[in-house]
Amino acid sequence: MAEKLTFTMIKPTAFKNNNTGAILKMINEAGFTIKAMKLTRLTPALAGEFYAIHKGKPFYDALVQFMSSGPIVAALLEKENAVEDYRTLIGATNPDNAAEGTIRKLYATSFQQNAVHGSDSDENANLEADFFFSKTERI
Ligand code: RTP
Ligand code: MG
Repeated sequence: MAEKLTFTMIKPTAFKNNNTGAILKMINEAGFTIKAMKLTRLTPALAGEFYAIHKGKPFYDALVQFMSSGPIVAALLEKENAVEDYRTLIGATNPDNAAEGTIRKLYATSFQQNAVHGSDSDENANLEADFFFSKTERI
């Protein structure tokens, strides 16, 4: 069933700009079901752990700083072909390259502050879900 799940975060700027409701509406209208969700804030240590795959890259420190700069909304989403379909819904990492109508095209304010995170594989979706949610926090 792993291929039915993906993990997302509404990043600090999108949350701060009150885009959470609009983004969740797009997620539901695209056919995703919310299986877990929480409003939280990452410490720099937790943000660094979450994005550990990027450790050593030139943008890592700024990414960790940004992702711990304010509250985020974390959610586990279910749909057939969830990882690929959610990456399509959110659009390219750089909003300048994101397709019209995608979440990042609509709500990103820069390459770094690109509104949402989306898992890049089934394996990472499960790891990321476990990072945020215990068994009792999932339906
Ligand atoms: P995310 O993990 O947040 O969903 O983003 P993504 O898969 O589309 O992009 P990824 O390659 O995983 O990079 C994570 C975040 O780091 C920033 N980034 N900056 N300056 C750069 O070359 C660069 N590359 C990536 C972006 O904010 C990206 O969302
Ligand atoms: Mg990524």
